[in-house]
Amino acid sequence: MSTPHIAAEPGAIATSLLMPGDPLRAKFIAEHFLCDVTPFNKIRNILGFTGTYKGRPVSVMGSGMGMPSLGIYAHELYTQYNVERIIRVGSCGAYTRALSLFDVLVANSAWTESTFARFYSGHDCKIAYPHHDLNMQLFSTARAMGVEDRLQLARVHSSDVFYRHDAEDYRDIYRDYGCVAVEMEAFALFHIAQTLQKQAACLLTVSDCLETGAAVTSKQREQAFTSMIELALETLVE
Ligand code: HPA
Repeated sequence: MSTPHIAAEPGAIATSLLMPGDPLRAKFIAEHFLCDVTPFNKIRNILGFTGTYKGRPVSVMGSGMGMPSLGIYAHELYTQYNVERIIRVGSCGAYTRALSLFDVLVANSAWTESTFARFYSGHDCKIAYPHHDLNMQLFSTARAMGVEDRLQLARVHSSDVFYRHDAEDYRDIYRDYGCVAVEMEAFALFHIAQTLQKQAACLLTVSDCLETGAAVTSKQREQAFTSMIELALETLVE
């Protein structure tokens, strides 16, 4: 079986899937966290792997950057490969000094300026929500792991534009829509999942702060990701 962007055999993808933006991070997760790993996709180097975590099947696949890219993969995974749950694990830029580098956010909603929903489902909404039960499960797993106090619920801005000509207009988005951080994919994931009656959630590590200009190094980014990935994997195999 093959879809335009994923070449996987039937049953080669688990029903629970972890989705970082970077395909090389998907490879890193497969190599460092999963056992019995089999690759299932190489098309366009959007690498996908299935393995086991604590004996339970789980897949990991990159989304690429931005909602058009994530939208392609999430749609094909949900509609053609029987994927039921996707947890995005990504990084975000903080809009407020109330957040610090390395803080881990659980998105409780994503606001966007994008027309993605209008053209995906015909519903021109600008706010999308994760699956309630999956979000609750993230917190109960975090509690069991003793890391619940490190999580913060947050509305995020899913932006179509990384380099904005007016570098200060994020302040309006913070003020008007209550978004405390920016990334580029969560809205599309939530909207697709909701439309298809599937499950989605999103964990984000703060990698930079727009107010202060502070940013983590790439090495630090790798380490910061580890706790988020463990939490997502523990949640997916529960
Ligand atoms: N903008 C958009 N996406 C991001 C950022 C940012 O500043 N940081 C991490 N992901």
